[in-house]
Amino acid sequence: MKRKIILTTALSLIIGSHITAADNTTLKEAYAGAFKIGTAVNGQIASGRNAQGQKIAIEQFNAISPENDLKAEVLHPTKDTWNWRAADNYVEFGKNNGMFVLGHTLIWHNQSPEFFFKHDDGSDKSVEEMKEVLRSYIETVTKHFHGKVNAWDVVNEIIGDDGKYRSTVWTNSFKGDGDEIVKLAFKYASEYTPGTELYYNDFNVWRPAKRDGIARIVRMLQKEGIRIDGVGIQAHWGLNYPSREDIIAAIDTFAALGVKVMITELDIDVLPISKEGQVIGKSLNDPIYQLPEFEKFLDPYKNGLPDDVQAQLTERYRELMQIFYDRRDKIDRVTFWGVNDGMSWKNGSPVPNRTNYPLIWNRDYTAKPALKAILEIPGK
Ligand code: XIL
Repeated sequence: MKRKIILTTALSLIIGSHITAADNTTLKEAYAGAFKIGTAVNGQIASGRNAQGQKIAIEQFNAISPENDLKAEVLHPTKDTWNWRAADNYVEFGKNNGMFVLGHTLIWHNQSPEFFFKHDDGSDKSVEEMKEVLRSYIETVTKHFHGKVNAWDVVNEIIGDDGKYRSTVWTNSFKGDGDEIVKLAFKYASEYTPGTELYYNDFNVWRPAKRDGIARIVRMLQKEGIRIDGVGIQAHWGLNYPSREDIIAAIDTFAALGVKVMITELDIDVLPISKEGQVIGKSLNDPIYQLPEFEKFLDPYKNGLPDDVQAQLTERYRELMQIFYDRRDKIDRVTFWGVNDGMSWKNGSPVPNRTNYPLIWNRDYTAKPALKAILEIPGK
């Protein structure tokens, strides 16, 4: 009799500890009253070739971003060719699963074909020619996806840390007149795809000077009567940067302008150098950093994430999601830049061939403690 009681108590303890509310709740359910919860998907996930990744995407998320398949170099690889296959498949995947579907991105200096900017003989196109390149690309792409994507990142990463325009293929081709690029891009997008939301998206938006530079272009568009619906804060962040204060100030700045605020590309870098701040450019691509002595320093967790770093990652995710949840009246969507660590671009950037741990599902598709931590936030 006594043994039976002990046995049932033990059994119910085991079962009881397993069936908690948080265990079965999904991210999109937990945050349903707060904001959309998104993930970036690649072709493997959208097509189902990665079945485990696709399953998590469908179960947990209600918004998707195309990691690469709607970028100019994919859609329009050469002057005479358009390639809609992967992009159409992405849109279809989102539609079939009732998700909010983002288009990412129309005007960006990266992953754009060289023929946009140069003639066949290698000479630069004139500003007038470039205005037509911008217009016709936006026309073709937004009309193709009209009624199929819910929103576009119209301009991506055009502002520098100092709040001024960066020197890029786009701004150089407009002789530095970034305002003209931004105005034309948003104007054409609003004309060609009415009813689709239009966003500006960037990294390091928390930096005060950069934040204020982006706020200036939002106000400029509003003053001109050109529609902009939101600002995306990418959030490729580290364990200790940026500070809570800077994140909150950025959210508040854009909300005060009356546009939607979105966290669009969330991942947390835990590896040396890049966990301290986002390294832009190709400096760490130098083969020297692949030498054994540097590799040992730069890529320390090849065989697994130590418990203490896992705990830091959990706490960082908890801290960030709490900040977002507390400002849910200002935030429209929080999107992770991928489903699991294995697919993350952070394994290859800014240092190639590393083993990074930026997301909330492990390489084997098991959930990290961070998932449980952030699922608990809305219930509190
Ligand atoms: C990244 C993708 O994740 C990589 O696969 C690709 O090689 C480079 O681009 N800012 C953006 C995203 O707006 O489009 C970038 O995505 C990450 C930085």
